[in-house]
Amino acid sequence: MLRRLHQDQPDAFAFTPANQAWAEAQITKYPEGRQASAIIPLLWRAQEQEGWLTRPAIEHVAEMLGMAYIRALEVASFYFMFQLQPVGSVAHIQICGTTSCMICGAEDLVAVCKEKIAPKAHQLSADGKFSWEEVECLGACANAPMAQIGKDYYEDLTAERFAEILDELAAGKVPTPGSQIGRFASEPLSGLTSLKEFESGHTKYNASVQLATDIGDTIKRIDGTEVPLLTPWQGKPAANKASAPKDAPRTGLSERQNVESVAPPKAKPEPSPVESQPETLEAAREGGADDLKLLKGVGPKLEQTLNELGFYHFDQIAAWTDAEVAWVDTRLKFKGRIQRDGWIDQAKILAGGGETEFSTRAQKGAKNKE
Ligand code: FES
Repeated sequence: MLRRLHQDQPDAFAFTPANQAWAEAQITKYPEGRQASAIIPLLWRAQEQEGWLTRPAIEHVAEMLGMAYIRALEVASFYFMFQLQPVGSVAHIQICGTTSCMICGAEDLVAVCKEKIAPKAHQLSADGKFSWEEVECLGACANAPMAQIGKDYYEDLTAERFAEILDELAAGKVPTPGSQIGRFASEPLSGLTSLKEFESGHTKYNASVQLATDIGDTIKRIDGTEVPLLTPWQGKPAANKASAPKDAPRTGLSERQNVESVAPPKAKPEPSPVESQPETLEAAREGGADDLKLLKGVGPKLEQTLNELGFYHFDQIAAWTDAEVAWVDTRLKFKGRIQRDGWIDQAKILAGGGETEFSTRAQKGAKNKE
């Protein structure tokens, strides 16, 4: 399947303040120079917030991680879990179409989707509330056929029950996930044949359904306020529950991320490097600014930031000392990108009239565009 950016894109993307804080905290999990490893969690959070991945969202994440846009797009377009087109405002339905589910009636579920949502996968329903797609095995084969709706699984579905679920979702309700025919888990349809002594000790739901029910974020868009920001690896308190509003609903993230609250390591505070402000310019010199985007790791937004800080020319960057790099570093979105991408070495070559492999490629690309 060809996975491309959608033809209609919004003008801009911004994480909500809480999601932005969360994303910045995720980046600090990775060693210096390896921040790009945070690409999947950040793209995923952007999708959790908006429902799908827009081009501005992919670019925003790429900039946060100091990556070329194309590298972030490669990740977003490679993994099918990323939705590159708008999804239903209420829910995106994923029908498992692999063997067990297909044998047990997945085609009937797809027929319901075609009838009630849209004739083709990834199309929005007329009211914009739903979209659907067929996916590969979701690992609940013993309870086939099944569908993932938002974050949770609906199992042992029939076409009738599935149609009802869609109606309930459209009416603003969230039906209880799990088996829809009353199975506790994946025991035989005719009931337990062994370990019967445990049957009477059953809770109402199995642990997954209970958690999904408690959390209540099955189809919720995540804005980051659901959970206090947990950053025990930074030596901060593991859980700042006092900061959450008392009546805030229990949500998935607090439960699902509790693992982060275990045994916070005692982080040694890093000595901050000495900073010294480099010489800056009010404006570019006569003859105009250099194209700072010829430095690997500098995109249009970063170039703008550098210009705003008073840097317009390669020779300015080439002359930065370690203390000056530290000063600039703290004014960029996260530390380390100057060193990681070797800006100083690149700038020295470019300031001397030479070319780097990246600048040659970038100039060729710009010419091809013309
Ligand atoms: S075949 Fe559908 S969940 Fe595995």
